[in-house]
Amino acid sequence: MVTKAGTFIVFEGLDGSGKTTQAKLLAGTLRRLGIDVIETEEPTRGSIGILIREILSGRAECDDRALAALFAADRVDHLHSASRGIYKPAMAGRTIVSDRYYFSSYAYNSAHLPIEYVIGINSICAELMRPDVNVFLDLSPEKCLNRLKENRKRLDTYENVGYLRKVRFRYFEAFKLTEEKERVAIVDADSPALEVSDRVAKIVLQYCNFTSV
Ligand code: TYD
Repeated sequence: MVTKAGTFIVFEGLDGSGKTTQAKLLAGTLRRLGIDVIETEEPTRGSIGILIREILSGRAECDDRALAALFAADRVDHLHSASRGIYKPAMAGRTIVSDRYYFSSYAYNSAHLPIEYVIGINSICAELMRPDVNVFLDLSPEKCLNRLKENRKRLDTYENVGYLRKVRFRYFEAFKLTEEKERVAIVDADSPALEVSDRVAKIVLQYCNFTSV
């Protein structure tokens, strides 16, 4: 089997950039190489994640600061939940592929808050389980929105070009602010899915340095 204790790969990007598809394709590629992979996502399917989805859909109201803190709490649960936590399996040598992690908070939840506040409330997770690589799937906000329109019956109210442009800008701001600590690979996502997945696989194998056991 091929493994490396704690290997952690995160996909980041705008809504519609193809994270979910690429996370699945990468997990498949790694499994074919004999790597034991857990696929996971944020917001989680746990109780905090469910509450977050209620808020995002407009069915529940929440202050921006509290929502940012809820995302951070959901992330701690993502690491440590007794039934779904990824920290223990990662330490036991399994590879984790996650659709979103704390850079999503830095980019999405700092719209009305200082980004330093958002980075601060996520520091428990950053110190405990920092990704081997954050793969940012880069696609223009216009193209993301077209993909969202093709794939969904209804867009959420915040899913518009102006909003996505701001999120993309804040992602890059966060990459700059954290560049001494974080490994970020920016991947051009404006190609057919299989071409993008080849690019992603090459980068991941280069960053993650899997070894045979
Ligand atoms: P998304 O990955 O789009 O989930 P799904 O495809 O299942 O709907 O995430 C839902 C939204 O949550 C997305 O618009 C980004 C936002 N989000 C944050 O605002 N902060 C975070 O920390 C995370 C993880 C997501």
